[in-house]
Amino acid sequence: MMETNQAADRELLRLQEEMEQARFRYLYESAVKSVMEMIKREAAFLETLFRREILSNINGRVKAPESIERKLQKKGCAVNLETARARLNDIAGVRAACFFLDDVYELAKRLKKQKQLRFIKEKNYIENPKASGYKSLHFIVEVPVETKNGAEWVRVEIQLRTLAMDFWARLDHRLCYKKDLKAAKSVQRDLRKYAEIIARVDVQMLSLRKRIDAI
Ligand code: GTP
Ligand code: MG
Repeated sequence: MMETNQAADRELLRLQEEMEQARFRYLYESAVKSVMEMIKREAAFLETLFRREILSNINGRVKAPESIERKLQKKGCAVNLETARARLNDIAGVRAACFFLDDVYELAKRLKKQKQLRFIKEKNYIENPKASGYKSLHFIVEVPVETKNGAEWVRVEIQLRTLAMDFWARLDHRLCYKKDLKAAKSVQRDLRKYAEIIARVDVQMLSLRKRIDAI
């Protein structure tokens, strides 16, 4: 047991060292920055077009070595940067919340027109929520990052959702983070119920906005 722990510690230390390498940081931090700028630019375009505020909040991050380690272990993979880059789609991640549901789709449509993005995978958890109640539009994309050897396409996970979906997801994460509460059936049921209530209000707020727009 002792030896296994020490081996795991060594693996994590090595992963941390690899992630500290300038080249790695540059690639993933640039990818996050570039996707965030693109989303902000496209949201600004829609704001001018529709004359309303589109984006509530946006943030991006490069996954922490500890989280990468945890995820690789869960998948039964070796813990090193090469495996992480091959097996994980969300080393770089950007999350953007719009005020209203229709704007989530408008923004997605604009992103799909970007020549600077390659779309690899799409999951619509708004139409098909996860068992937890989680809703969001997920895209795995690749974005070019300039290097001395030309452009390198770096994978980024984009999560687009409404402010209401973001509210639920953030509280869900807060409440359940690092606790095995998800195993408790009644907690699961309540979280899913609240997701449905929030989703109903979200749709009602959208029709209210449309009524107000028409005045
Ligand atoms: P994973 O990241 O291992 O789940 O890979 P995957 O390919 O299965 O991606 P998936 O689309 O299932 O979810 C990826 C991300 O969505 C997670 O890292 C979370 O940020 C978010 N997510 C998914 N399910 C939930 C949920 O039930 N609650 C919350 N708060 N976030 C979730
Ligand atoms: Mg998952």
